[in-house]
Amino acid sequence: MVMRSRVIGSGAYLPARVVTNAELSQRVETDDEWIRQRTGIRQRHIAAEGEFTSALGLKAAEAALGSAGVKADSLDLIVCATTTPDETFPATATRIQHKLGMRHGAAFDVQAVCSGFVYALAVADNFIRLGQAKRALVIGAETFSRILDWNDRTTCVLFGDGAGAVLLEGAPANGAASDRGVLSTHIYSDGEHHDALYVDGGPGSTRTTGVVHMEGREVFKHAVIKMAEAIDKALETNGLTPGDVDWMVPHQANLRIIEAMAKRLNLPMDQVIVTVDRHANTSAASIPLALNQGVTDGRIKQGDLLLLEAMGGGFTWGSALIRW
Ligand code: UT7
Repeated sequence: MVMRSRVIGSGAYLPARVVTNAELSQRVETDDEWIRQRTGIRQRHIAAEGEFTSALGLKAAEAALGSAGVKADSLDLIVCATTTPDETFPATATRIQHKLGMRHGAAFDVQAVCSGFVYALAVADNFIRLGQAKRALVIGAETFSRILDWNDRTTCVLFGDGAGAVLLEGAPANGAASDRGVLSTHIYSDGEHHDALYVDGGPGSTRTTGVVHMEGREVFKHAVIKMAEAIDKALETNGLTPGDVDWMVPHQANLRIIEAMAKRLNLPMDQVIVTVDRHANTSAASIPLALNQGVTDGRIKQGDLLLLEAMGGGFTWGSALIRW
């Protein structure tokens, strides 16, 4: 017998303000056609002045707790994946913990940029498997708009703000691929590629936050290769094949990357949850936002096998298999 982390709730939150490609084309030299053809993005949500990552994360957390009918006082752990914390310290997770009225257990942040949600899921799943936590909230929350150079057309059109969360609960299981819950997580990093995707500032160097810089083509190439490897590893570990996957819930960076991954698995696009068109790339929030979309619109059902994959700055990358 093993302990599995079952997903018993999910939630998401998007800031009210929607910024279209047309609006961006008034600011930088770009156009709707270029953005849609190269990325699939039509619009993104942008947080309001004074609306911080913790506020977005809190709303997603409350929605996840509400969907499970669970109160915060029964949680043992909050792990928040974010690259855009409210402050350098304390962790955004502790802000969320406080606003949830929770004064026990532990809350901390995980930083793996766009792979952050897969990393945070891996951390929480391991706490649950070891019996150190029974219920854990895993949040991905970002105000990525705050670390963009809004005059740089090669990056500012790509990202958006938002938050998503899942609630995990430990449950005994057989250790088989038919179990409900997180079947596996695989996370990787390689600092060699720092310069392809980074922020040119930080508290320990410039005392500023800096802005995002990306060599898009380079990142694209690595994303396809590395995520494919992580997916193969996930399936192999569980003795599963691409044909067993019901839903791919990928990090939402670029529709062309998502399509390439689906094609490689021979998975039709109607088995892929796509939100990049409406949310753009919300970094650590993109997978839980997509997950929640698939759950609330009724596509993802109990017993379905979900394949999550992500890649981001570092480079970091990884995959997870979840039976819903
Ligand atoms: O979430 C973390 C992981 N991130 C990713 O996975 C992102 C991976 N990369 C990508 O998604 C794509 O590489 C981009 C969407 C960033 C760029 O697409 P691309 O097809 O690789 O375009 P490119 O960078 O090769 O640029 C093509 C052209 C360039 O002009 P020249 O040099 O061919 O004259 C760019 O200057 O498009 C130009 N360009 C733009 N034109 C209009 C770049 N950005 C824009 C823009 N509007 N916003």
